[in-house]
Amino acid sequence: MFKRSDFPDGFQFGASTAAYQIEGHSFGGAGPTHWDDFAATPGNVVRAENGAIACDHYHRWEADLDLIRDAGFDAYRFSASWARVLPEGRGTVNEEGLDFYERLVDGMLERGIKPMITLYHWELPSALADLGGWRNRDIAGWFADYAEILMGRLGDRIWKTATINELWCVSFLSHFLGQHAPGVRDIRATARAMHHVLLAHGTATQALRAAGVGEIGAVCNFTYAEPASDRPEDVDAAATFDDYYNNFFISGLFRKEYPARIVEALGRYFPDGWQDDMELIGAPVDWLGVNYYTREIIAAEPGPWPALKSVEGPLPKTQMGWEIYPEGLLHFLRRCDAEFSHGLPLNVTENGMANADVVVAGAVDDRARVDYLARHFDAARQAIAEGVPLEGYFVWSLLDNYEWSFGYEKRFGLVHVDFETLERTPKASYHALKAALAS
Ligand code: FCB
Repeated sequence: MFKRSDFPDGFQFGASTAAYQIEGHSFGGAGPTHWDDFAATPGNVVRAENGAIACDHYHRWEADLDLIRDAGFDAYRFSASWARVLPEGRGTVNEEGLDFYERLVDGMLERGIKPMITLYHWELPSALADLGGWRNRDIAGWFADYAEILMGRLGDRIWKTATINELWCVSFLSHFLGQHAPGVRDIRATARAMHHVLLAHGTATQALRAAGVGEIGAVCNFTYAEPASDRPEDVDAAATFDDYYNNFFISGLFRKEYPARIVEALGRYFPDGWQDDMELIGAPVDWLGVNYYTREIIAAEPGPWPALKSVEGPLPKTQMGWEIYPEGLLHFLRRCDAEFSHGLPLNVTENGMANADVVVAGAVDDRARVDYLARHFDAARQAIAEGVPLEGYFVWSLLDNYEWSFGYEKRFGLVHVDFETLERTPKASYHALKAALAS
């Protein structure tokens, strides 16, 4: 692995999780979410599993925070569930939910862990899904109201705030590819969701700033697009993928415009007057979060837009089937800084790998993850050496958890979770990071 002294003083090391993936959404008065509905619909999720119990973090949070402290992490990126705070998405507040997040944040502070909160990591209240969810422009106001209620309680103790996790997943993955809730496959819904998720980010950012919240950031996910060949049609297909996946959201956030290629393809599906929202979408942020896992090999495929497909690549793969490609992390850290965020602090807010981990005699030998992390931390060091203002790195994830449509099958944790007994077993990667952070 690395040594702490390989990184600049004050560099923040952390671990990442998300509410629905670990808490146990059936506890504590949380309302139904579109992930519960999506999972209950046959064919969407492996074994139709949902987040009802997950890691039972709702009851085991103290021991989980101890694991974070004992590893030597400086910070913890967690998320709050909208439906736990507002079971109907609007209106009545579930005080039990706010109390839970307050205890959790205080528990971090008591342990010397800096709280980085994500306000939305995908569990949209079902009542708002009924109203069209991300297709409905009103979601910008609903989200800002929720953000103000939550941060009204926690804001004075939060270190950094991320608005919405992975805008591409909230919109494109969920409304075009249909792989995440609400499982829609509709180009018009997609274009609207892509715009509204940015509008919600901007609206909440402005509202929170007016309420005195600082250190607000956006978190985007990036996948390196490699053309399948030198043929112009494959190069062009990879550029299209790169624009709708990687450039669209940071272009809105930092340039107040969308890539021309995407406006050409999706412009007619955007809501009327979308151009008038760009100022608000580009409301200044204090930092940018980069989530990075892999690359995809993109080939042209005749058919309607985007007329492309992913083909299998040659590199070693994780349990997800994702190629291991640390060069992509370096690429995006450079690209974000040089072309979009221009000197704004960056954080790697997610990076990690799934591995088919098993407990043998009380230990988990996940050396593949140790190697994956070491190589990606190297890429981060390289970026810093080149002058990229990277200030923190959060490993996904602290615990094995509910990996969305893959259910509990894909294990991303530094800590193994037995989903029968809910027992936690720190893996070799946890011990390796702990040693690195102590050195
Ligand atoms: C990211 C998500 C996170 C987890 C990892 C593997 O896209 O933010 O919740 O699913 O991928």
